[in-house]
Amino acid sequence: MFSLFIFSSCTWNELPKVICVPDEQVYLDLVQPIIENNCISCHSTPANMPAVLGSYDGVIDALRNYSLKEEVINRTMPPYGSPPLSDSEINIIQKWADCE
Ligand code: HEC
Repeated sequence: MFSLFIFSSCTWNELPKVICVPDEQVYLDLVQPIIENNCISCHSTPANMPAVLGSYDGVIDALRNYSLKEEVINRTMPPYGSPPLSDSEINIIQKWADCE
C-alpha cells in the first residue's frame, strides 16, 4: 500500500518539475547513515533549529520546507568548520531526493 502511494505520487506527467516521495527503504539503507554521521550532532532537537533530521519524516519535511537538497548540493550544510560530505555522499542524497 505504501509503495503504491509512492508510485502514484511519482507520476511524471502532472507537472514539469517532478514531485515525488523519496523512498523510505533507500533512506534507511543509504541516507540515514550519512545524516547520522554528519548532521545529527546539530539537528537532533527543534531547539533553535529549523530542520530536525532524526527521522525519515523529519528529513522529508526538511526537503520540502528547508531546501535540504540544495543545502547539501551547495555544500552549505554541514556548515563551515564541520567535516564536509564526500562527493558520493552528496550524490546519494541528491539522487534519493530526486527519487532516482
Ligand atoms: C555544526 C552544526 C551543524 C551541522 C553538523 C549541520 N547543520 Fe544544518 N544547520 C545548522 C544551523 C545552526 C542551521 C540554522 C542556521 C542556518 O541556516 O545556517 C542549519 C540549517 C539547516 C537547514 C535549513 C536551512 C534553511 O535556511 O532553511 C537544513 C536543511 C540543514 N541545516 C541541513 C543539514 C544537513 C543535511 C546536515 C548534514 C549533512 C547539516 N545540516 C549539518 C547547523 C548544522
